[in-house]
Amino acid sequence: MTPALPMSSMIFNPRKIRLYFILSSLLFTAFIGNAHVGEHPSVHDTVAGIIDRFRKTIPLKELMGMDITKVKSLLTEKERHILGTQHITFRVNVPVKVIIIRDAAMGDKPFWLKERGFTPMGFKITLQGTEVDFWMKDFEKGQIGLGVNSLTGGNTHYIAALMPLKKDIKLEVTELYPGQLRVGALKDGLQPFVDRPEAMPKLPVLPGILSGLAVIRTQNESRDDAKLINLFHKTQHPTTAKPDQITLTWSEDPQKTQTIQWRTGPSVDKGEVQWVKKSDYNRFQPAKPKRTKATTFRMEDENLVNDPVVHRHTATLTGLEPDTSYLYSVGDGSNDNWSALAEFTTAPEQTKPFSFIYMGDAQNGLDRWGSLVQRAYRQRPDAAFYIMAGDLVDRGNERDDWDSFFHNARGIYNHRPIVPAIGNHENQGGHPSMYLQMFDLPKNGPEDIEPERAYSFRYSNSEFFVLDTNLTLESQTAWLEEALKKSTAVWKFAVYHHPAYSSSPDRDNPGIRQHWTPLFDKYHLDMALQGHDHAYLRTYPIKDQKNVASSAEGTVYIVSVSGTKYYEQGQREYTEFGMTNVSTFQVLDIQISGNRLVYRSYDIDGKLRDNLIIEK
Ligand SMILES: [Fe+2]
Repeated sequence: MTPALPMSSMIFNPRKIRLYFILSSLLFTAFIGNAHVGEHPSVHDTVAGIIDRFRKTIPLKELMGMDITKVKSLLTEKERHILGTQHITFRVNVPVKVIIIRDAAMGDKPFWLKERGFTPMGFKITLQGTEVDFWMKDFEKGQIGLGVNSLTGGNTHYIAALMPLKKDIKLEVTELYPGQLRVGALKDGLQPFVDRPEAMPKLPVLPGILSGLAVIRTQNESRDDAKLINLFHKTQHPTTAKPDQITLTWSEDPQKTQTIQWRTGPSVDKGEVQWVKKSDYNRFQPAKPKRTKATTFRMEDENLVNDPVVHRHTATLTGLEPDTSYLYSVGDGSNDNWSALAEFTTAPEQTKPFSFIYMGDAQNGLDRWGSLVQRAYRQRPDAAFYIMAGDLVDRGNERDDWDSFFHNARGIYNHRPIVPAIGNHENQGGHPSMYLQMFDLPKNGPEDIEPERAYSFRYSNSEFFVLDTNLTLESQTAWLEEALKKSTAVWKFAVYHHPAYSSSPDRDNPGIRQHWTPLFDKYHLDMALQGHDHAYLRTYPIKDQKNVASSAEGTVYIVSVSGTKYYEQGQREYTEFGMTNVSTFQVLDIQISGNRLVYRSYDIDGKLRDNLIIEK
């Protein structure tokens, strides 16, 4: 690939011309380095080995307070070498200049950049709200290895542009490792990360010489692959022998079943639910409760210094009557340690009015989020279930964060089922392992993806299609179409994390508009309940990517946030109402008389901030 030189656009801009000449002289200097070639243990194994050594040789107190300078001083030469060269590897057929495009706020990270002779190119631009800078180094043809993003975790992962240094041979990139990485082009529409659907519709003005270069699109989740500080946590909510985090979900038919999960300390190795129809309990001679055994599994977070192992118990009550309230208690089957009685109500068989709550990202500030969710429950105790559109927690594979989440929602999810979707933060480390262990969900999703990551369920006259925007959208499109086609529901809702219509121009997800919104149009989805943008947005009804006059024609897309991290938003052509810096919960009332959906958004004080009525 030959670098494009859009001279015509540069002639009238002296600043750009100067930048171009500086870059040209920088970029075509002699080769100054070679790629390392060799067989090594993987970064993953190396990191596991380092953590294991730390754990065995360093007192816990010291380990918890260790800073990055100390960590670096404890790495062997070989470990530094692997972490600095084996995170991403590939082969090129011509000499290239490798240009690392990284978050400029990273300071001296990645640690290997300077050590290996990468030099700064001396300018910055803003990409997706992040200021990035550019570091370059020349490599001979052959294998090239790049190192980990950082030893501290966090920050956005770098991407790498490749500039061929011979103009007459077409650049080919082969043997790209890890296998899920892809090669793209540094131009409008670039999707920098393979594990996030956001693309940049319009890149900021780049020096022409960089424009269109091949780019290694990386996996943003792997930014924490070599995190070696703040690894060890304490949970504020350790287990005891008494059940807690008692949570209702639906894994099967909401009319006839109820799934209940809870946790105990590891000394409790079995679980059981006692349950009884509320009307039978309230008689003069209460009926004898039924008993259902749970399955119990061990869940481990070895980085928790207190309470690393818990037992989680899951039971699904079957043969229930629709639209009926039950009382239940969970325990281990012995006489001790039963939980206080709680209550759930099955879904109606017939069409009946009902309400539910939807919230966007909780993620940060979980104690304040707790006040919001408690307010929602106090204000609307009749709401049948709680939809969370992803990013329930910040650190999805660290249990102390989940412990905080459940602690703050105490008294709610044991009475009303939670209906969660997977956000990018549940996917920490590249897989939503803890999320999938925490929630037992319907297994009626696409066959080609892991069960429970996408699913649907029906409640009264409404159907909900919950999707996972961390996976490829294509993997769920055929299933979504089939499910929408089959649906006889009056009201249809989609729930997923990354929004189809973003509240901010640099957080765009065109893939969702390519793959899913045409189906929303075709089968008339009423509302898409989304998250991720840390702002509030309600669009006009949209069809064929255009605003339309009424909700009868189009779909209304909502973005909301329930936690305390906020991003700015811009007025977009599709914004009917937007807010920044407000956490909200939404109540959706499905009314049968008049066939209306009444949508209301409230803040933490219970103040109405937005509302909409859709009539059929
Ligand atoms: Fe997110």
